[in-house]
Amino acid sequence: MIDIHSHVLPKIDDGPVTWEDTMAMLRQAEEDGTKEVAITHHILSNLDYEREGEIITKFKELQERIKIEKIGIKIHLGAEIYSQPDMELFHTISTYNDNKKYFLVEFPMQGIPTFVADHFFALISDGMVPIIAHPERNGGVIRKPERAYEFVQRGALLQMNAGSILGRHGAPVKDTATILLNSDLVHFVGSDGHNTKRRPLQLGAARNAVAEGWGEYRANLLFQENPGKVIAGEPINPQEPLPIQPLLKGFSKLMKKIFK
Ligand SMILES: [Fe+2]
Repeated sequence: MIDIHSHVLPKIDDGPVTWEDTMAMLRQAEEDGTKEVAITHHILSNLDYEREGEIITKFKELQERIKIEKIGIKIHLGAEIYSQPDMELFHTISTYNDNKKYFLVEFPMQGIPTFVADHFFALISDGMVPIIAHPERNGGVIRKPERAYEFVQRGALLQMNAGSILGRHGAPVKDTATILLNSDLVHFVGSDGHNTKRRPLQLGAARNAVAEGWGEYRANLLFQENPGKVIAGEPINPQEPLPIQPLLKGFSKLMKKIFK
């Protein structure tokens, strides 16, 4: 599996504090079957790019530590950029592996700012591909999942959090995750790992849930194939999304009972 969303370096943001924490997170990921991890620390405003040098230095140190401790994980560098009209995308860490194409972007939790649709459209016209981080946790998408459909139709891609699929962020988030998966609107599942306990760097359980609910082909696409293309900067031709369907509570349980 390839994880495109994580906060792994120590003392950068709300991720781990010590190198011991960092290495423990990576060991958990390795045991869980992850082979590659993209490190995407928060860039909350353009001022945060002042710490880019520190991030790159710690990233290189982590590569050395991984070698010394013989951990079987390859790391890549990117960022999780807070959406704003003047956000800068030309820095080394703005796009994955500095590929000048794919960037991970997050919205405020409560909704989607009005400037975003036109802003993204202009960026997509220039050949950039916004990857929207955890849309299933966004209030605007929870209230109206059609917003996610609109963004994908315009050329954005969606990254879902493993914890959302597993119900770790509550029922409305889990239901929204299910609605988006049902409509083929999800292109990646990432851990958004911050620590070893509450937000671990793990994908395995979510992969099992996706394979069980939506099939092995889809699981491979979301946990391996599409993330691999982001890391390599290769084009992704996403499946045509289906119109949003509301969840019929208890429907799948009922069907299982009838057809068992
Ligand atoms: Fe994150």
